[in-house]
Amino acid sequence: MDISDKLKGRDFISIHDFSEAEVAYILEVGLELKKEQKKGIAHPILAGKTLGMIFQKASTRTRVAFEVGMYQLGGHALFLSPRDIQIGRGETIKDTSLVLSRMVDGIMIRTFDHEEVLEMARWSSVPVINGLTDLLHPTQVIGDMMTIHEHKGGLRGLKLAFIGDGNNVAHELLFGGAKVGMDVTIACPEGFEPDKEVLKLAEKDALETGAKLQVIDDPWKAVKGADVIYTDVWASMGQEGEADEKEKKFLQFQVNKALLMAANPGAIVMHCLPAKRGKEITDEVMDGPQSVVFDESENRLHAHKAIMALTM
Ligand code: CP
Ligand code: NVA
Repeated sequence: MDISDKLKGRDFISIHDFSEAEVAYILEVGLELKKEQKKGIAHPILAGKTLGMIFQKASTRTRVAFEVGMYQLGGHALFLSPRDIQIGRGETIKDTSLVLSRMVDGIMIRTFDHEEVLEMARWSSVPVINGLTDLLHPTQVIGDMMTIHEHKGGLRGLKLAFIGDGNNVAHELLFGGAKVGMDVTIACPEGFEPDKEVLKLAEKDALETGAKLQVIDDPWKAVKGADVIYTDVWASMGQEGEADEKEKKFLQFQVNKALLMAANPGAIVMHCLPAKRGKEITDEVMDGPQSVVFDESENRLHAHKAIMALTM
């Protein structure tokens, strides 16, 4: 397919940084690349280009989607483990960014502190892609919005209920929903609400699209009238030590059959994965007919290809 160069050279750090039209274009390219791949039409848009991938946290989906995606686009991806590269021995993000920029055409980084992605982007002369931080997970939500679009025929006017921790995925869903005009309600236990600054920025974006954003503490209220029910682990990577303590507070926030029955008939169930089955989601729901969790996983591949093809 022909790719416009209007996003060339841009970093991909949050959906919040892109206009409504730009987000729509990324989704359109993702869905188109998916179609081409299914038909066996080659699309070597990034032939000869290289993506450096720094993972400071574990990953299955994100790593495989970027690596396979880059291969399908005709380029090459390098997995850079902190155990092997000099960041692990204290080389700064700034110096790493300056060095990598001289050799690769794009840098993907998954890390803890969001500031590190911003620092990487500050010094990089090639696009930097945020592969998840403690604050945000934008490549996830592009794939998720593609998935919702495929199952519901659009995004505007839909209602998404996120049940659980006000975490990186919840934050990015607020940004994503706000940009495309999809209502997002976050239901979380008191003390686990999304970041206030993220909510404020998303609310500003929502004024332009009419999306309604809410944070409440009642999962039953959240799923009423919902077209999409979304959940994620109660303890994210880096919070392993808090898992037991959190579990007690989140017991009422499990996505199970009873909660699903309280949503719109035909509501779809989403989870970014990996899941703790039997905790935030039951087997019955995750393996049930309304679950689209593995479509979501697959769509990471097509979403990442769109992000790379457009920015690199
Ligand atoms: N959803 C997601 O980002 O999965 P990984 O941690 O396996 O990459
Ligand atoms: N909130 C989860 C998402 C994993 C893809 C985490 O940060 O661990």
